Amino acid sequence: MAQTPRTLPSRILLRQPDDWHVHLRDGAMLEAVVADTARQFARAIVMPNLKPPVTTTALGTAYRDRIRAATPAGVAFEPLITLYLTDALDPDEVRCGVGEGVFTAAKLYPANATTNSAAGVTDVANIRGVLAVMQDLDMPLLIHGEVTERHIDIFDREAVFIERTLIPLVRDFPGLRIVFEHITTAEAAAFVAESGPNIAATITPHHLLLNRNAMFDGGIRPHAYCLPVVKRETHRLALVAAATGGSGKFFLGTDSAPHAVEDKESACGCAGIYNAAHALEAYAQVFGAAGALDRLQGFASDHGPDFYKLPRNSRQVVLERTPQQVPVSIHAAGTSIVPFLAGTTLDWTFAGFADQR
Ligand code: DOR
Ligand code: ZN
Repeated sequence: MAQTPRTLPSRILLRQPDDWHVHLRDGAMLEAVVADTARQFARAIVMPNLKPPVTTTALGTAYRDRIRAATPAGVAFEPLITLYLTDALDPDEVRCGVGEGVFTAAKLYPANATTNSAAGVTDVANIRGVLAVMQDLDMPLLIHGEVTERHIDIFDREAVFIERTLIPLVRDFPGLRIVFEHITTAEAAAFVAESGPNIAATITPHHLLLNRNAMFDGGIRPHAYCLPVVKRETHRLALVAAATGGSGKFFLGTDSAPHAVEDKESACGCAGIYNAAHALEAYAQVFGAAGALDRLQGFASDHGPDFYKLPRNSRQVVLERTPQQVPVSIHAAGTSIVPFLAGTTLDWTFAGFADQR
């Protein structure tokens, strides 16, 4: 039964969540953003689309060290590092990085699909050797699922990717664990739901809260632009149903992707939405509106570790039903970032750990 606002609880306790898809960047931007993620999430799958990308065990180790160094003292946060797949990647690099405990997963960016993906994979045929090793090692493959052909409508690129690339890939590597990242369409939600237990998906707060009108609301809105782009309302509703439906195949992945304000508000603005500062509250907004707050813990805290075969977190966090306004801008790296939902009011406030209150 749908919960009306009057029946919403005044606080919720949740097992501490993890973020199964985040961009922490590097250098000054890493220093500026990592605390927002580390404050709420025990672990995060950190995306490897740096300049240069994380394509070797040595680069992965060094990046993990920089993230740890940038994490505020006393905050328990574990970055889980991902390997950036390229056409030329040696399968031995995968064996080495997994053997040394550096890489949790590997990320497939179709070349030129999104930010810093120029070195990505031009054809899945080029990485068959790597995928075979990953399947052997039971290492999850994380996929940015969009075709890149410019003649294909940008709103159709995810659905076309399923037909052309994902279905053959799943057929050829039936034992490979795959996370279809940041799904945006009813087609993707259905594909994942109907696939075997080795196929799962992350869903972002922005794809749960926005439809494509948000990019054109009274004028062009660069802060609602990300890739894959938000789709029409029917797709948003399908994603909400998937996230709140209780299936273990769907879990939290913010795809929080910070860009300096001047890079977003530009004639060719970057793709990416920064939602890390209020991520859990934004998801709570979605689950509250759907009358499904009792399923938030599964989505945010249980399904991800279960899929990754990692232990669930033991601490509990508290969300209080205290309204808060999202700042219109956040200082970062000598400039500012306009966060997701800037200036709007959220119903919930993250109130720390239950054992520290
Ligand atoms: O919107 C996006 N931003 N989508 C991606 O796939 C990459 C990300 C980024 O790194 O900025
Ligand atoms: Zn991403």
